[in-house]
Amino acid sequence: MKVCVIGTGYVGLVTGICLAEIGHDVVCVDKDKDKIDTLLAGRCPIFEEGLEELISGNIERKTIAFTTDLAGAIKSQEIIFICVGTPPLPNGKPDLTALDAVSKLIGQSINGYKIIVNKSTVPIGTAKRLKKIIKENLRDDNNSHEFDIVSNPEFLKEGEAVNDAFFPERIVVGSESSRAIELMKNLYKPLIEQNFAYAKNNKNKKDKIPVIITDSTSSELIKYASNSFLATKISFINEIANICERVGANILDVTHGMGLDSRIGSKFMKAGIGWGGSCFPKDVRALAFTAEEYGAEANILTSAIQVNNYQRYKIVQKAMDVLGIIEDKTIAVLGIAFKPNTDDTREAPSITVINKFLELGADVRAYDPVVKSCPPEMDSKVTITPDAYRAAEGADLLVIVTEWKEFLHIDYTKIKELMKSPCIIDGRNILDKKTMAGLGFNYRGIGV
Ligand SMILES: NC(=O)c1ccc[n+]([C@@H]2O[C@H](COP(=O)([O-])OP(=O)(O)OC[C@H]3O[C@@H](n4cnc5c(N)ncnc54)[C@H](O)[C@@H]3O)[C@@H](O)[C@H]2O)c1
Repeated sequence: MKVCVIGTGYVGLVTGICLAEIGHDVVCVDKDKDKIDTLLAGRCPIFEEGLEELISGNIERKTIAFTTDLAGAIKSQEIIFICVGTPPLPNGKPDLTALDAVSKLIGQSINGYKIIVNKSTVPIGTAKRLKKIIKENLRDDNNSHEFDIVSNPEFLKEGEAVNDAFFPERIVVGSESSRAIELMKNLYKPLIEQNFAYAKNNKNKKDKIPVIITDSTSSELIKYASNSFLATKISFINEIANICERVGANILDVTHGMGLDSRIGSKFMKAGIGWGGSCFPKDVRALAFTAEEYGAEANILTSAIQVNNYQRYKIVQKAMDVLGIIEDKTIAVLGIAFKPNTDDTREAPSITVINKFLELGADVRAYDPVVKSCPPEMDSKVTITPDAYRAAEGADLLVIVTEWKEFLHIDYTKIKELMKSPCIIDGRNILDKKTMAGLGFNYRGIGV
């Protein structure tokens, strides 16, 4: 089938590649010319394992094309995926400017039956909003053209995006049109049946992917509710970790004991500095907003957000406990990305923590295996080091913010020798308390 993917960010790029790999003719569009030039050169503009090889492979096989010509791509393709960003506005509501702009152009460019598939995470009712904008923008000579809207939320995890795209746990298709639903089932057939070259001999290949067919509103809510549930699960366990610290229990044993109960499960049960990134914070806030708009209570969601905000400042409190006055102290921060295996720093806990340390007058050094700068407003105030050892040199405190695997294999004896005072705050509980104490560190984890 002929597919157009609008937006070549984390979601759009992975979606485009996945659809090309399962046999479709894909045109990816972005308004960012630099991104398109990078992609045309066969390089990947984001850090996502395995993606670059797939991009160059599909370019060679001519199964994927990259362009900035949105109108042209809409005209030539039959299924149009929208994968643009929906970042939060200062009040927490999702900004739908990019989505509206794209919908307008779709309306102006339609030249035959099209399915408009929205993959961006959007507030409830957005499918209806898209339909209205597209209808309003149909030109006189194209107003007889039919189109259908589909909500097809994305559940990929940055850092594991390629694997999640090819071997998803479910595909959700929400639409009021049976014609569109049938075409979507056809589009995803190789994926649903796990019958495509990349899946062959892949250890992650599944027997069959479940497909949930529903209305567009329920589909939009499935995405928000899923992310909100996961974020709430982390906030819940962080609250338990804080109780552990007060009563002298160990969160690692507590979560192990809880997680073996199959009704609870062990995933998303790691106590730490809390959730961040481009999805959880904005999606939980957006769902809480929707609840308020429609007069429903969202007490659990607002509490999950509060617990998460508090958890970041807990790291700063722990630093104060260890160092006393923070001013003029040197603090080494390990990890800038919001989670391992990605270069994404959107709403990363590191940003809040580093900002607070800077505000209190600390000299901050930061190291991340992939991220080599902080956001512009704070970048000049933070020294980015080429490795963890340089960050630790002369430091009064070392704070682990992101659970990169690399941080497990650091020579902590050497780190201790390099530091001015051997103090570690492990915001992800990746190190063993007893081992670190044995090495002579003043070690503080979360709830241990
Ligand atoms: N990143 C994730 O892990 C993830 C997972 C699931 C869902 N989502 C959702 O998917 C959506 C996209 O997220 P992302 O992380 O890929 O965003 P992103 O910011 O990485 O990518 C968005 C892309 O859209 C492009 N764009 C914006 N306006 C455009 C226009 N008018 N025409 C063409 N291109 C345009 C931007 O240049 C950018 O390249 C968001 O709604 C997000 O919440 C993200």
